[in-house]
Amino acid sequence: MKDTIRSIMDRRSTRGFYDKALTQDELTILQDCALASPTAMNMQSWHFSFVTDTEKIAKVENRVVEKIMGSDDEAFKSRMKERNYSVFYGAPLVIFISSDAESKWSAVDAGIAVENLAIAAHSMGLGSVIIGMCASAFDDDCGKELGTELGFPSTHKFQIAIAIGTPTVSKESHPIGDNKITLI
Ligand SMILES: Cc1cc2nc3c(=O)[nH]c(=O)nc-3n(C[C@H](O)[C@H](O)[C@H](O)COP(=O)(O)O)c2cc1C
Repeated sequence: MKDTIRSIMDRRSTRGFYDKALTQDELTILQDCALASPTAMNMQSWHFSFVTDTEKIAKVENRVVEKIMGSDDEAFKSRMKERNYSVFYGAPLVIFISSDAESKWSAVDAGIAVENLAIAAHSMGLGSVIIGMCASAFDDDCGKELGTELGFPSTHKFQIAIAIGTPTVSKESHPIGDNKITLI
């Protein structure tokens, strides 16, 4: 199988990481892969905040846990508990993708970029997990300040994040539901 196909097929979500920083070379490759993502009309509606400062990562994590546990969303609360109140699973790098709130395709652009990052990380022997759960950290006035602290441009809103590092765990591929493909 070609390397790219193998990386797509073998990638899994990683929910446990060693306390081991990425090298500068690894960070540079990931930055290049993020910026190589296609965007609608080449608008490049996204911004990537590469965060390796563990205090900042913990600040976002604590805010997510506080907001979810203080909410009445029982499903989210029990998911949080199942995950041991961990949002980023000890990853040494979290990339927050924000994008232009006015751009029609900004969510799609961010989704494509986050998958580029997941496949790139996997092909470099790293693990990753895409994180949507942290959206609640950014959805109010305090959250806007937090976004600014993480370098989100003022026109941008949080879209998605990805935690990356050396995996301590592995898992099977996800089960595939029926009827996901139609052949005509
Ligand atoms: C948009 C999106 C948001 C996600 N948010 C989270 C999250 O907040 N926490 C988490 O542990 N996994 C999250 N995931 C990972 C999914 O749970 C995972 O991709 C799915 O269970 C399939 O497993 P696999 O990635 O190992 O194939 C997210 C995935 C996507 C695409």
